[in-house]
Amino acid sequence: MKNQPIGIFDSGVGGLTVAHAIKQILPGESLIYFGDTAHLPYGDKSAEAIKYYSQRITEFLLDHNSKVVLVACNSASSSAFDFLKKEFEGKAILLDVIDPVVDYLGTKNYSKIGVIGTKRTISSGTYEKKIREKSPSTSVVSMATPLLVPMIEEGFIFDDISNAIIRTYLTNESLAGIQALILGCTHYPIIRNQISKIFNFNVDVLDSARLVSMILRDALEKKGLLNDSGTVKDQFFISDYTPYFEKIARMFFEGEINLKKADIWN
Ligand code: DGL
Repeated sequence: MKNQPIGIFDSGVGGLTVAHAIKQILPGESLIYFGDTAHLPYGDKSAEAIKYYSQRITEFLLDHNSKVVLVACNSASSSAFDFLKKEFEGKAILLDVIDPVVDYLGTKNYSKIGVIGTKRTISSGTYEKKIREKSPSTSVVSMATPLLVPMIEEGFIFDDISNAIIRTYLTNESLAGIQALILGCTHYPIIRNQISKIFNFNVDVLDSARLVSMILRDALEKKGLLNDSGTVKDQFFISDYTPYFEKIARMFFEGEINLKKADIWN
């Protein structure tokens, strides 16, 4: 089991922010990444559709011997994670990207925070519900920012178009006075700097990548499943080929990217 890979999935490039953090914290582990580019964006899909995609991708990752399945997508974490836990319990370590951030917030004393995410994540109310349970004195303002994923997937980052979109969303009055902003979508750390700038770097901008990587390290350690074989092999699968995916993957993982198209929908 020790040298089996860590399975990670997202709708597209977003989960690469999580994969990258895992590589920093667990360089001895092999990754198998699945980007469901054929169904991107997940944020506009129904919970039922996302459950179906997530189930099939989890089966694919398990068929490829994953010792862990990490749902590196907030839209899938909010709509499908409970279902996946029931369906695949005992087959691998299952992790989501929402609980690590909510647990971290429980150690802080913020009075007002903001959460931004896809329409699916925000309308599920998952962050608000979980934060209310762990940090009852923190008030939460949630906002769907649906243009951000297509913008990032189309390569509009660090330019006037992305700056205008980010500014329009984040200067909304409801976010005034927040002390922290949760990036409730794994795509958003790609534009973290532009987001922080809107708040003059005075707001803690939080995402799950590092937090979930540390939880993963602890879980593997506890179960004696850390890869100590010295052999590392990363694999990247997408359900539809997009040159942009390859470009971003190369940005995060220098060198050769072993990118393959996996036809799991036929
Ligand atoms: N990166 C994903 C998330 O965290 C999915 C975004 C999308 O496909 O809409 O929600």
